[in-house]
Amino acid sequence: MKIAVLPGDGIGTEIVAEAVKVLRVLDLKLEMETALVGGAAYEAQGHPLPESTLALAQAADAVLFGAVGDWKYDKLERALRPEQAILGLRKHLGLFANFRPALCYEQLTHASSLKPELVAGLDILIIRELTGDIYFGLPRGRRKAVDGHFPGADEAFDTMRYSRPEVERIAHVAFQAARQRSKKVTSVDKANVLETFQFWKDIVTEVHAQYPDVELEHMYVDNAAMQLVRAPKKFDVVVTGNMFGDILSDEAAMLTGSIGMLPSASLDANNKGLYEPSHGSAPDIAGQGLANPLATILSASMMLRFSLQQPAAADRIESAVKAVLSLGLRTADIWSEGTTKVGTRAMGDAVVAAITGKTITKS
Ligand code: IPM
Ligand code: MG
Repeated sequence: MKIAVLPGDGIGTEIVAEAVKVLRVLDLKLEMETALVGGAAYEAQGHPLPESTLALAQAADAVLFGAVGDWKYDKLERALRPEQAILGLRKHLGLFANFRPALCYEQLTHASSLKPELVAGLDILIIRELTGDIYFGLPRGRRKAVDGHFPGADEAFDTMRYSRPEVERIAHVAFQAARQRSKKVTSVDKANVLETFQFWKDIVTEVHAQYPDVELEHMYVDNAAMQLVRAPKKFDVVVTGNMFGDILSDEAAMLTGSIGMLPSASLDANNKGLYEPSHGSAPDIAGQGLANPLATILSASMMLRFSLQQPAAADRIESAVKAVLSLGLRTADIWSEGTTKVGTRAMGDAVVAAITGKTITKS
């Protein structure tokens, strides 16, 4: 099993190192090869997604990704910005189905910004369409306005669009995922205003006819944003488009205590996938050993489960994460009174120790 390891920028290198460390103690035959991506690749090779990196990702069975981006690249032309690396990988690898589970660990109920009773036991799965919508729709650009409120003025525009097959395939993914869970799907749209999302809603409804055992509810995105902080446990599987999914998944992440806890999987039609934490490169804390590596470690576990068919190894990682949380070990983002603050490396070491059965001390 070949894994392309792409740490990227900022805290990416620190957190991926911990996930790699965890993968190595599992006694699996994993071949891991590392390559540059994002700002790091731009510096060294002049492009955020060099051809060699893309080729490595294409040849691998799965990709383990850290994070990309740094404010210092904000002035670069868009095609050279670090974010283009992750968008390019999603597009070139056809990773249209993004799974972002938001799970509130019992031990972290008090780390959430919501009241504990609202989030205790929370377990929702956001399925975000990842290769369509306004993110990739053409045309886009800048021009002189010919109509609108200010004809003749400079304007910028993007195109929101979805084709029937794109909506159908993500709807199938959502209904199938729901069958493995509580058999409930909430499809989030903005059909009251946008043609693209009336189309989305119509197609999701059509596909639903093939899944009579699954309950389907439709919700406007503004209401969904509100319900997520009002009664998040009412949701189970949430399926939505690329942009709404981007926003709602960050919101859902905070319900769990910290975005530093949230893994993600981005899959193609054959379950080949890219696995990355849902958070970004956090340049403000990069290089200081402060970042929480658990989202990346849990992403590695999703990789074992979804792409590499190693469910037992995935279970071992997940149990180990729960064990270190039960021991009271916390990185700064999830720390609270009475728990032990640890850095990135100590957290990774603790997960390794929990897997290998060595005792971990709290110091
Ligand atoms: C995410 C990120 C990306 C996105 C950025 C880095 C391009 O926010 O994975 O959610 O917008 O999809
Ligand atoms: Mg995002």
